[in-house]
Amino acid sequence: MTQQPLLTLERVSKSFGPVTVVSDVTVHVHAGAVQVLLGENGAGKSTLIKMMAGVHQPDGGRVLVDGRPVQLPNVHAAEQLGIATIHQELNLVGSLSVAENVMMGRIPTRFGLVDRRELRARARAALDLIGLDVDVDARVGDLGIARQQLVEIAKALSVDARILVLDEPTAALTRRETENLFRVVAQLRARGVGMVFISHHLDEIAEIGDTVLVLRDGHAVAEVPASTPEDELVRLMVGRSIDEQYPRGTGPVAEGTEVLAVDGLSSAGSFSDISFRVRQGEVLGIAGLVGAGRTELLRAIAGADRYDAGTVTVRGRRLRPGDVGAAVAAGVGHVPEDRKAQGLVLDASVNDNLGYATLASTARMGLVDFAGQRRRAEQVAGTLRIRMHDIDQPVRSLSGGNQQKAVFGRWVIAGSTVLLLDEPTRGVDVGAKVEIYELINAITAGGGAIVMVSSELPEVLGMSDRVLVMRDGRIAGELSAAEATQDAVMTLATRDVAPAQP
Ligand SMILES: Nc1ncnc2c1ncn2[C@@H]1O[C@H](COP(=O)(O)OP(=O)(O)OP(=O)(O)O)[C@@H](O)[C@H]1O
Ligand SMILES: [Mg+2]
Repeated sequence: MTQQPLLTLERVSKSFGPVTVVSDVTVHVHAGAVQVLLGENGAGKSTLIKMMAGVHQPDGGRVLVDGRPVQLPNVHAAEQLGIATIHQELNLVGSLSVAENVMMGRIPTRFGLVDRRELRARARAALDLIGLDVDVDARVGDLGIARQQLVEIAKALSVDARILVLDEPTAALTRRETENLFRVVAQLRARGVGMVFISHHLDEIAEIGDTVLVLRDGHAVAEVPASTPEDELVRLMVGRSIDEQYPRGTGPVAEGTEVLAVDGLSSAGSFSDISFRVRQGEVLGIAGLVGAGRTELLRAIAGADRYDAGTVTVRGRRLRPGDVGAAVAAGVGHVPEDRKAQGLVLDASVNDNLGYATLASTARMGLVDFAGQRRRAEQVAGTLRIRMHDIDQPVRSLSGGNQQKAVFGRWVIAGSTVLLLDEPTRGVDVGAKVEIYELINAITAGGGAIVMVSSELPEVLGMSDRVLVMRDGRIAGELSAAEATQDAVMTLATRDVAPAQP
């Protein structure tokens, strides 16, 4: 393209301490075009974006806006130049309302007072843009992660940006919500907004991208058209091809003993009368639309939330409602959908985060076995290929996908035999996904059992031995691996559940 780019990162580099994470990379953002950044977890994508957003300053190289060198010493400076950013980790204030979050920093006032009506109206307009139907007065902290992501998107769209940067905006979205977002992206493209887009869903790249910059270990390795076939993109990004996407095989051969029994579990407003069994060696998938009650159900089983009625039994022992410690002691591990708020202590080290569930149980005569814990943490970090420079670095400084692996790793170390996985591969790159699937297989082969909630239907279908479909807080049906097709699941997930017999 001969046209002047809106934004250029010119030969930028960035190091944290002794570790260089971006090295001599050039990216252009053109008006009316979507520049995709592609790379494995930890390749440097978010770091590049943060240099566009004024969060990080490059150690070397320059930032150009309209061809002129600029300094972006802080986020405000970037916003002033018309650069709006949706970061991978959400930046919302949970205790404030949806409207206050959307309009943050731009709260309308009238005679020196907050103009509530105007605030609500402007927020409403921003939400309508992406078809998000939530109460503008709702507390953001009470929304699920998908809706929070949409609020974040609405917030960025409501400022008149010339450059819109989207770091994995679709990771927590369903297909329909993604389509809404892409519709808006198409409108912005037509209006000449320049965009940067990151996603580990390769099919989305051809759908909305124009060009793809492929990064490996902080280096730009290729720049190709977004129409490049997916397997070629994978090869460029991981340096090899990945042939088997869902390595589950045909499921458990022998009937294992029952390890988890859920009977008549109900929680007002979330789910009702849920019963199922899971056997050793089994992966039970739970499918359904956002809002079907899947996350709430997993949280109740894990002891994270209380419930109103019903029982949870692990290996014959009934768990006390709302008691995480008892669940962990019974061998239950929970990978929550919101790793930032519920899964990790961000300022603690990788080592400590991996060890949380085990430190007490591996103590001998009251003495915590720090050396042993460290050895196990290093081993699991290696197995999961958590990309880090030091096991003592804070989890906050890991890339998003590597944080996800750390949540998983904790339960591997703890030797949990019943794993409740809520969107286990969200934000995880294509290669690491297969590694997580292999780990699921290893856990079930070793006698463990898995309950997996996922909005990625191919993942549910590819990795489950049995699929429960939830709709509106109830079980709408159960499908064997053989019966579970995309159509069968969607029919159950969207059909009205027959009303209970009077
Ligand atoms: N503040 C920091 N201190 C130390 N290391 C950091 C910091 N921020 C990022 N890193 C490191 O920089 C590397 C690149 O991280 P980045 O977040 O850019 O990856 P990414 O490509 O966005 O990955 P993902 O797909 O997982 O989001 C990682 O190895 C990460 O641990
Ligand atoms: Mg990232």
